[in-house]
Amino acid sequence: MKLAFLLAALFPIAHLPEAQAANAPLDIWVKQIWNEFKDAVDCGTCQALLGGLKLAAGFGEEFLKDVLIGVCDSSRADDPDVCAGIMTNELPGVYYAIKNMHVGSHTAKTLCSALVGLCDFPNVRPYDLKFPSPKPDKRRPPPSGKAPLKVVHFTDTHVDLSYEAGSNSECTKPICCRTFEAQDAPGMTSNPCGPFGNTKCDAPEQLQASMMTAIASMNPAFSIYTGDVVAHDVWLVDKAEVLEDFNKTYGMIEAHLGLVYPAMGNHDTAPLNLVPSDKLPGRFNPQWAYDALTSSWFALTGAESVSHATKYGSYSAMHPNKYGSYSAVHPNSNLRIISYNSIFYYKYNFFSYTEPMEYDPDGQFAWLINELQSAESANQRVWLISHIPSGDIDHFRDHSHYFDQIVQRYEATIAALFYGHTHTDAFQISYSDYKNRNHNTANSIGYIAPSMTPTSGSPSFRVYEIDPETYAVMDYTQYIANITDPSFQANPVWIPYYSAKKDYGSTLAPSPPDTAELTPAFWHNITVAMENDPSVFDSYWARRTRGYKVPSCSADCQRTQICALRGADAQYSCVKRTPGLSLSKRGGVDEVRDHPLLSKRFHPECNHAGMAPLLAKIAYQAQVARANGE
Ligand SMILES: *[C@@H]1O[C@H](CO)[C@@H](O)[C@H](O)[C@H]1NC(C)=O
Ligand SMILES: *[C@@H]1O[C@H](CO)[C@@H](O)[C@H](O)[C@H]1NC(C)=O
Ligand SMILES: *[C@@H]1O[C@H](CO)[C@@H](O)[C@H](O)[C@H]1NC(C)=O
Repeated sequence: MKLAFLLAALFPIAHLPEAQAANAPLDIWVKQIWNEFKDAVDCGTCQALLGGLKLAAGFGEEFLKDVLIGVCDSSRADDPDVCAGIMTNELPGVYYAIKNMHVGSHTAKTLCSALVGLCDFPNVRPYDLKFPSPKPDKRRPPPSGKAPLKVVHFTDTHVDLSYEAGSNSECTKPICCRTFEAQDAPGMTSNPCGPFGNTKCDAPEQLQASMMTAIASMNPAFSIYTGDVVAHDVWLVDKAEVLEDFNKTYGMIEAHLGLVYPAMGNHDTAPLNLVPSDKLPGRFNPQWAYDALTSSWFALTGAESVSHATKYGSYSAMHPNKYGSYSAVHPNSNLRIISYNSIFYYKYNFFSYTEPMEYDPDGQFAWLINELQSAESANQRVWLISHIPSGDIDHFRDHSHYFDQIVQRYEATIAALFYGHTHTDAFQISYSDYKNRNHNTANSIGYIAPSMTPTSGSPSFRVYEIDPETYAVMDYTQYIANITDPSFQANPVWIPYYSAKKDYGSTLAPSPPDTAELTPAFWHNITVAMENDPSVFDSYWARRTRGYKVPSCSADCQRTQICALRGADAQYSCVKRTPGLSLSKRGGVDEVRDHPLLSKRFHPECNHAGMAPLLAKIAYQAQVARANGE
């Protein structure tokens, strides 16, 4: 049904005052919006659907929620409690976005491309970032030749405090290993979860304790943690659960490890993903989450409030209580660590779909420039750490480009960037000229570490070898505890899985010496080796999921994936929208064989959790219903 018909059909309802809307025949609205979902097959019809939702939003937040729950139930996209939980939790952001949206605008098209793939990605809007000084003629410093430091990177821990050993691993919810119903209880199921974890579930606390012990035994100089404390029970999670999760995970980190620099994940607030800018009404601001994170972070980074100024020169310059970002100089070093909040640029943060979309939410880009400029002036090196990789398909293209402009300006100062979020093992390269991507134009490297939670492969952490003067990455070793090994449930053993220099470097001729940095050019050359020798690509492809359920990847898929590695500026990542489905660039398992949105028993990665994939699932179910003539 086209919008005009919808309007006609709803005309009597649309003129009821808001107070009476609850008495209006909800089932008519549900049917109309469900029909609009079925009709949404291209950009125009997706805009019409937004128009219908906007009308429903006109009757208030509760009404929009009831309509969306009804549509979710009609679509059978998920169990009713999951539909209701997700729609209720994330509604404030969706309502705000839909109510204020102008149908047909850049914002509306971004939403239809990002969430359901029905519009082309709109062109990146130009934005003039202000740099205090021109780019100097400066290069990456050569390695010092000194013995390297060990730095551990772990991410996406997602501990589920309600994990129950012996409970059912074959439930119908997004995560299992909990007693959702009597038949899921320990002793009642023939598919019991082991004590240390299951690929259908988030991690038990014991697994995290085992990993912390393994990390501590490596004696790292310090560690980085790129976020996502909270489990994927996204239809249930609330503020109390998030705070308890922070307490348990950060408490455990504090008990086992020394200095740790963390970043905020998209799950590290409730409702998840919703991080409004300061231009939105204050009632939406998750200040409690920033405050809770900040107090844990202060404990970990050793920066007590009184000693900021002396010990951490820049701590006073950070926005510790403002939006989950900070900049800190590592003690007795010339390394500045800048942890920024990438959730502002996340396509599942519904509060970002403002009219017009903000260029620089909370002024974070301006702040990053300021911090990088100070670092450049002080001859410091910088690590940028964050949760969502800037080249990820889930990152807004506009903001990916703006961020990359900043990276380009300060490429000689930035030693490397570190991310998590995708649960998979990957990297992203920045270039001074994306039309001409080669080893000479490659100028920054982002490391994307795989998760501890085992939903997409064995739990893992990474150990970098770091030059103690330039803070460049000389090598890394990926560690895993092999979840398919029968002894895993008795005692996970953390073993080296592969090493970057040995296992990637050996594919280059000549292979780099031990004394060489893993430069952006090195990583570019690895992508060239992937093009020239499919076995190099296959190794990368298998390592993404630590060998777990490795999907096939056709020649075309290989080209796209290699291009994605060369796409730190997301508009150049070659990822195409797929109508009806919102695919993850690096979610190969999902992409190729059994896309999780197509399966009722869908176990999410963090880039596939909550309202957004639910809407995509509803859109998919709508197309199935349409094809079946329902
Ligand atoms: C966790 O909560 C306990 C009890 O309130 C408190 O003593 C402890 O300091 C908290 N730990 C962290 C890391 O927040
Ligand atoms: C993990 O364990 C399984 C089963 O023992 C084995 O087949 C596989 O090779 C192991 N993987 C690694 C990376 O060691
Ligand atoms: C990358 O490959 C080019 C061309 O083969 C070569 O000249 C350059 O030295 C290589 N750089 C690295 C770091 O491997």
